Amino acid sequence: MAVEIKSKADIEKMRATCRLAASVLEYIEPFVKPGVTTDELDRLCHDFIVKAGAYPSPLNYKGFPRSICTSVNEVVCHGIPGERALNAGDIINIDVTTTLDGFFGDCSEMFVVGGEATPAAKKLIDVTRESLWLGIAEVGPNKRIGDIGAAIVEFAGKKHGYGVVDAFCGHGIGRQFHMAPQVSHVGRRGNGLRMKPGMTFTIEPMINEGTHECEILSDGWTAITRDGRLSAQVEHTILVTEGGYEVLTMRPGAWRPL
Ligand code: MF3
Ligand code: CO
Ligand code: CO
Repeated sequence: MAVEIKSKADIEKMRATCRLAASVLEYIEPFVKPGVTTDELDRLCHDFIVKAGAYPSPLNYKGFPRSICTSVNEVVCHGIPGERALNAGDIINIDVTTTLDGFFGDCSEMFVVGGEATPAAKKLIDVTRESLWLGIAEVGPNKRIGDIGAAIVEFAGKKHGYGVVDAFCGHGIGRQFHMAPQVSHVGRRGNGLRMKPGMTFTIEPMINEGTHECEILSDGWTAITRDGRLSAQVEHTILVTEGGYEVLTMRPGAWRPL
């Protein structure tokens, strides 16, 4: 499938929807406290997005019943918000996707409930964040898309011994939520399509403490680690530029290297 190249006008719309998605993560952070339910976080994000004149893309997407994904502890991705109240020390990924003016923007962040993670959880989150940025550093014109996942698996998998999930990928994004190309997080060096300026896609590594293997719960969405150990994920939407890349979902205060 051909990979869409965004026009200048398209890129402006991508910047706007991605800026909005990122601002939702900024907005929700202070609400991620012990005792809050994931349904409450969902409602807050939903209202924020709708007030901004956008649509929360997950809602009714292939039947998904909520406006964000909330993935707690052993949940790898696609956790459905519900009545579960968060406990101090839980780790949670909040994944926000917005549709604004016909364009999708997609990003996610890890939060530690109550601020204090175990050393093991903290290390998992740190390695996951760093692996995302090592992947981002591989983005640029004429570079190969396989090098993104290669950088991620070399660092999180080979160096740190974590399980790098291969059942879910990053994805092209624009007028559709998920489109070509697929962005594997366990890619191989020198493999895959060559990136071109104007392409937009996500990178969203899921890194497990133990096995990389996942199971889907009977709700048809929630992916958990097969061994019940922790999983972390962070996601950005990236634009390939003439000079390299632009992280469209960057926000003030977000983690970045250096
Ligand atoms: N935001 C997720 C991603 O990064 C997709 C969620 S699909 C949903 O691709 F239906 F679960 F919302
Ligand atoms: Co995504
Ligand atoms: Co997402």
